[in-house]
Amino acid sequence: MPTATKSRLIDVKIDIPKGDRENLVAILNQQLADTLDLYSQIKQAHWNVKGLGFQQVHLLFDDQAEIFEGFADMLAERVALLGGVALGTVRMAAASSRLPEFPADEHAVPVFLELVRDRVAAYAKSNRAAIAAVAKIDEPTTEDLLTEVSRGTDQQLYFLESHLY
Ligand SMILES: [Fe+2]
Repeated sequence: MPTATKSRLIDVKIDIPKGDRENLVAILNQQLADTLDLYSQIKQAHWNVKGLGFQQVHLLFDDQAEIFEGFADMLAERVALLGGVALGTVRMAAASSRLPEFPADEHAVPVFLELVRDRVAAYAKSNRAAIAAVAKIDEPTTEDLLTEVSRGTDQQLYFLESHLY
C-alpha cells in the first residue's frame, strides 16, 4: 500500500501516540481497501446473477453490499479521526485490495453464491488478523470497531453458506 500514508498524519488531540496512530491508520486503510473491493464485487454479483432463485439472491447481494459499504464508512472515518488520510477511491482500493477479482464470465446463482462466499470468508479472516494486530498496539476502541465489522461479516458469511447447504 502507498507509504505516503505515514507522512501525511495530521496533528489531532486524541490521546493515542502518533506512532500507534500511524500503525492503526495503515491497518485500517488495508481493511478499507478490502472492504471497498468486496462492496463493489458484491454489487457486481447483484447486477449479473442469473438463474433459478434470482430474485432472492439478487436482493441478498444488495443487502450485503449495503452492509459492507457501511463498514467502509466506519473504517474510513476512524482513519480520519486518527489524523490519517482515508485511501478510499476505487483506484486506491484496487491498488491495495488483497481479494481476487470477480470473474466476468460467470452468471449462475450457485456459482455466484460460492464466489461471494469465498471472498467474504477471506475478508472475515482478514478482520480477525486486523483485530489481533490492533490488540498488539493495545488500542481497544479501534479493536472494538474491527470486532463489530468482524461480527457483521461472519453473519453475512453464515447467510451465504446457508444458501449453499
Ligand atoms: Fe440494484
